[in-house]
Amino acid sequence: MYVLGIGCYYHDASASLLKDGRIVAAAEEERFTRKKHDISFPTNAIKYCLESQGITANDLAYVGFYEKPLVKFERVLHQHLDGFPKSYKTFLSSMPSWINQKLRVMRKIRKELKYKGEVFFIEHHLAHAASAFLVSPFKESAILTVDGVGEWSTATYGVGKGNSINLMKEIRFPASVGLLYSTITAYLGFSVNNSEYKVMGLAPYGDMNRKTNPYYKKLQKVIDLKEDGSFKFDMSYFVYHHADRMPSKKLSRMLGGPVLNRDSPMGKREQDIAAGLQLLTEDIITKMLKHVHKVTKQKNIVLAGGCALNSVYNGKILRGTPFKRIWVQPNASDGGASMGVASYIYNCILGKRRNYHLKEAFLGPSFTTQETKRFLDANGIVYSEFESERDMVKTTARLCYENNVVGWFHHGMEWGPRALGARSILANPCNPEAKELLNSKVKHREKFRPFAPVVCEDDALKYFACDKPVPEPTDFMLMVYPIWKRWHKTIPSVTHVDGSGRLQSIRRHQNWQYYDVIKEFGKLSGVPILINTSFNIRGEPIVCTPRDAYKCMMGTGIDCLVMDRFLINREDNRRDMWDSEKYAKD
Ligand SMILES: [Fe+2]
Repeated sequence: MYVLGIGCYYHDASASLLKDGRIVAAAEEERFTRKKHDISFPTNAIKYCLESQGITANDLAYVGFYEKPLVKFERVLHQHLDGFPKSYKTFLSSMPSWINQKLRVMRKIRKELKYKGEVFFIEHHLAHAASAFLVSPFKESAILTVDGVGEWSTATYGVGKGNSINLMKEIRFPASVGLLYSTITAYLGFSVNNSEYKVMGLAPYGDMNRKTNPYYKKLQKVIDLKEDGSFKFDMSYFVYHHADRMPSKKLSRMLGGPVLNRDSPMGKREQDIAAGLQLLTEDIITKMLKHVHKVTKQKNIVLAGGCALNSVYNGKILRGTPFKRIWVQPNASDGGASMGVASYIYNCILGKRRNYHLKEAFLGPSFTTQETKRFLDANGIVYSEFESERDMVKTTARLCYENNVVGWFHHGMEWGPRALGARSILANPCNPEAKELLNSKVKHREKFRPFAPVVCEDDALKYFACDKPVPEPTDFMLMVYPIWKRWHKTIPSVTHVDGSGRLQSIRRHQNWQYYDVIKEFGKLSGVPILINTSFNIRGEPIVCTPRDAYKCMMGTGIDCLVMDRFLINREDNRRDMWDSEKYAKD
């Protein structure tokens, strides 16, 4: 039995396909259209999911959508009525997309897929909760979902047991942890729904002491936070409920100046604001989690919603709350909710037993050796073929050790926003210049942002102060942990200013080529850790196909590309060189 889950029209449209309760394919639309965070109906992602199984929409038993558009529309109408006349402009600008698109989801599904079967619409936070619990390793668990906003909910908690989910309480719009984080992201001049993680990366440069950070104290004025983690906002600090901006003038005054623009330098004040926000967010979610534990008495916690991508906080949960085990799926924000709705239909509506645990994120398109070779030959690309898998592993490790920037393309594309060793750029973390090298050659990103280390799971505790055993979300780069001090100088390029690392752990069964390259690099350097950063041109989504990967290498300063059994050097293909920076958008 096949069930298809769909999410679109807000952020990160995606599709997920279940076969007899197991996720067999899942991908975000942006990877196919090459438009970052594409929100449009996921025609290409659906096509990939169906083709990967050799089926058509006629073979689908059910289709599900990750929210209830009518209920959301009701909230939007309320919001605009409450804010009238200030909301008049945003009301007018938002209506066409509601009338032409968002309220016509059913019709769109039927037309695009030529599908005549049943379509289920699931509340957005229930889809988030399902995406976290139903594919988790836990038979029973507490569930917490925290995002910007769904229909009305901005956070919910409850319990998952077997194949049932019971959401017990919610926090409703306009009070929203996600929208608070996005408001400060906008204030600092970053793009909303895109750059929240940059604020998280900026925070450790600021004062992370609650007693001395002046902005932590100031930001507390915007929120009335109760001991049980519930809260209300003083809405005079915000305008997102009636305008297409987020911070109010009052908030700007409190933070000491007008909203910044994207090129503003990030000085002490901005760093302290980011730190104050991170501290306040951690206060709120800690209170929520302690309350959820008290009410549910569960040992396990699963998280979903955009706030579950706050890996800095995730790494503190097992130490700061009574929960013993944690699980977060790799695509924890809206992009992953299509997986939740498909699982919810199968397990909760149809009442089928759970028989699946998502252990790896490689659910997107993959390419055979023949397909890859055909692409290289058809385009006259100069390449060499490795003699063996062993040769491929050893050569890749050596190239990294010799301080090359290496494009790495193996397996099915990652599900979720992080590169996890299927579409990654690898480099040497022991090289103190690696950060500058990557920034000048490829990433061109803000200097304050850290690069992430990848380590084999069996080596993780030696280098990082991880929870024991290493939690599975660490495999999805969702947990930041301190790097043991004795290694700071050995791996300077992945040690953040506060001594932390946003590590990815890798288990050999997930992607043995990647695992073996890291181990082999360890033999050369003495440290089995690599830099792993996403394989993309600045402002574009992570690469999907061999063509995307080759184009990315030729447009940036990536030295070589290890793709399946093939090694392609940039210098050998000079006629295809171009400068991606001339076209970069972000
Ligand atoms: Fe959401």
